[in-house]
Amino acid sequence: MTSVNTDAHILMSMTYASRANPDVSATDFNEILQQAQINNAANSITGMLTFNKDYFLQTVEGPRAQINRLLYSLIADERHYDLQVIETRELKHREWSKWSMNYASPTEENAAVYLKYSTTNGFNPYLLNADSANGLMNELSAQKG
Ligand SMILES: Cc1cc2nc3c(=O)[nH]c(=O)nc-3n(C[C@H](O)[C@H](O)[C@H](O)COP(=O)(O)O)c2cc1C
Repeated sequence: MTSVNTDAHILMSMTYASRANPDVSATDFNEILQQAQINNAANSITGMLTFNKDYFLQTVEGPRAQINRLLYSLIADERHYDLQVIETRELKHREWSKWSMNYASPTEENAAVYLKYSTTNGFNPYLLNADSANGLMNELSAQKG
């Protein structure tokens, strides 16, 4: 019998919300996105990030070990804080396979999508359950075309 000593075949997805550090500028947002895209391409991670000036909501998916390693980095990253995991689950297939990190932030075009998932005025991912978080990100991505 061959023993399997890698979990690379076990795919998982993690969705979390966090608060942007108030010092984080528009340039920093672009750097975060670029860093995510470059690192993820090297680490077999794919996903979706949505943010406004106050909050992040992100889904990352990939090999379980890589996702857990990224979780440590994310928690230590001072560009955001109060990271709260919304959902983790095992996947048979990736849902964001086309993107090292897809992204969306509020624009006039997607305002209705954010509104649909808001119980208060404005986007606050801490108020979303897992289904709503996934729904929001899928609709934002679909809207981008
Ligand atoms: C909101 C947010 C999302 C991030 N997303 C990712 C990501 O998807 N992948 C990643 O490697 N790093 C991501 N980062 C950066 C990590 O926290 C960390 O800085 C980085 O992985 C460190 O790796 P490096 O120094 O080797 O580039 C994110 C940071 C923030 C604040």
